[in-house]
Amino acid sequence: MRGKVPDHIARIKQYIPGTPEEDVPAAAGQDKPLKLASNENPLGPSPRALEAAWTALKRCHRYPDGSGRLLREALSTHWGLSMEQIVLGNGSTELVEILARTFLGKDDWAVMAQQSFIMYRIAVMAVHGHFREIPLREMRHDLVAMASACDERTALLYIANPNNPTGTYVSNTALDEYFRQVPPSVLTVLDEAYGEYLQSDDYPLGLEYLRKGRRVVVLRTFSKAYGLAGLRLGYALASAEVASAMERVRSPFNTNRVAQAAALAALGDEEHLRRSREMNRNGLAYLEEQFLQRGLRFTPSAANFILVHFDRSAQEVYQSLLELGVITRPMTPYGFPQSLRITVGGDAENARLVGALDKVRAAAGR
Ligand SMILES: Cc1ncc(COP(=O)(O)O)c(C=O)c1O
Repeated sequence: MRGKVPDHIARIKQYIPGTPEEDVPAAAGQDKPLKLASNENPLGPSPRALEAAWTALKRCHRYPDGSGRLLREALSTHWGLSMEQIVLGNGSTELVEILARTFLGKDDWAVMAQQSFIMYRIAVMAVHGHFREIPLREMRHDLVAMASACDERTALLYIANPNNPTGTYVSNTALDEYFRQVPPSVLTVLDEAYGEYLQSDDYPLGLEYLRKGRRVVVLRTFSKAYGLAGLRLGYALASAEVASAMERVRSPFNTNRVAQAAALAALGDEEHLRRSREMNRNGLAYLEEQFLQRGLRFTPSAANFILVHFDRSAQEVYQSLLELGVITRPMTPYGFPQSLRITVGGDAENARLVGALDKVRAAAGR
């Protein structure tokens, strides 16, 4: 019957975002809930971004610049690419969708890790594409298996680096080997949503592979280290040919005036970015130490969150923490039914989380 929900849409399991603060009553003795569920920046936005956002807001009766020229110019200088190689999105999530709409037909396939950002799967399913999911190996993308899973029907391959929800990353050696192996027709999406947090020598910048002429699209976002998640601004770095194809599919005013202005200012505020990184580094070190002291298992992370493993249902631990006003994210939909993903907060927030975990574990006797 025409007009009924198509089967391939009916099969999609709806994305469940982190519980919003607005939905959680403050716990006794706390003035507000603590959200550590969506990998947001505890430092907040750059004051320069806020000021630019306010100025732009006063012009909100006008459509935004549909091409986002000023921001794309700044990004092109930042990355040393031409403007034609940059596509803006309403968050990088929208770019994940645009890529599927642009490159996947009904009979095409995508390859992705089994335990990775769920929007890859949803984007592929929504366009009636097919996908193969490859299990992680030692909590990392198994790039050898992923490359081997590609054949002449494979159009897209998604790699989150670092990965959500594990916080692990693949090294430049592993990625070099992957590009030697993967068929040249496959378009590799390197999602670097958390890339700003990494400064290790062996972290492979997708940009370098793009420069070498590999068939790759790099995704970045202002939602994480730049602290602008609520404004929704992500971008893709691609070859001019791939970017132009995406531009044809993108809706004309997908990124708004306020977000463009704030992102432009945030990009110029290197001090704020440095402070965000530092806060995250210290927070991660603190949490890892606290977890070690308590014998709690976790996956060492390179991002702004940490996956903690329990010996019981993560949903139960999540619920008990919620009753104490602390919002975390059970990772059952990502294939880790006994793990919580916890965003690294500021000092006081991390201490509050640890205190809440202690109470929950004491009450459960483990
Ligand atoms: C790996 C990964 N990619 C992309 C995103 C999307 O970020 P945004 O749409 O806010 O840019 C997220 C958000 O959690 C993520 O974890």
